[in-house]
Amino acid sequence: MRGIFITFEGIDGCGKTTQAVVLKKRLEAIGHKVIFAREPGGTKISEMIREILLSADNVEMDPVTESILLAASRSQLTKEIIMPALDEGKVVICDRYFDSTIAYQGYGRGLDITWLRELNRVATYELVPHLTFLIDLSVEKCRERMYGKKFDRLEQEDDIFLRKIREGYLSLSKEEIGRYIVVEGDKSIAKIEDIIWKETQKRLKEFY
Ligand code: ADP
Ligand code: TYD
Repeated sequence: MRGIFITFEGIDGCGKTTQAVVLKKRLEAIGHKVIFAREPGGTKISEMIREILLSADNVEMDPVTESILLAASRSQLTKEIIMPALDEGKVVICDRYFDSTIAYQGYGRGLDITWLRELNRVATYELVPHLTFLIDLSVEKCRERMYGKKFDRLEQEDDIFLRKIREGYLSLSKEEIGRYIVVEGDKSIAKIEDIIWKETQKRLKEFY
């Protein structure tokens, strides 16, 4: 594979999407071809699965069902979009990838992490991001940023659930220091942009 795969992670409202969009623009400005995708979703089939996952009506969804649906959405996105783009030498930026499942369904919902890793090893065709930005921010500050937004099923969870996820992400970042860059989310949008840009340029130099 010739392209570089960059993912953004963190709890809801931490600022991932804001930063992912800026990074795409900056990379395009220096001549890279960039594909952007969000999870769950990103293909026709994956967006249909997203509807099922996020529908506020589906309150009875079982956590194992949820994990398998997330993995199904991910395998379709990986095969249909991410792998071909990387083969063509493009940069792929993904707003969430399998680390979200380890954090939310594993640390958050308490499902077996070994099983979730195995499920995702298959669903991703063993593809691992080259670089993952974890935007770390307190649950309280994330909530402030989400104020007024209509919550989907997965965003209706309580603060205890989100705190477990935040801690889970921080543990994951310590397990893979080479891949994860932890960015403090309470800095200004512009400051975070600069940190992310510096780190990305460093990686691009090593990679291409
Ligand atoms: P996520 O994708 O992680 O849910 P978003 O990027 O959608 O988060 O940001 C959530 C809200 O917070 C948006 O209104 C966005 O403009 C705002 N926001 C993002 N980053 C910052 C920041 N560093 N400081 C203040 N507000 C921010
Ligand atoms: P979304 O509206 O895309 O939120 P965000 O902008 O915060 O990414 O909703 C995605 C929701 O799905 C979010 O609450 C996190 C959750 N999710 C999981 O629980 N596990 C996963 O593997 C993924 C990809 C998302």
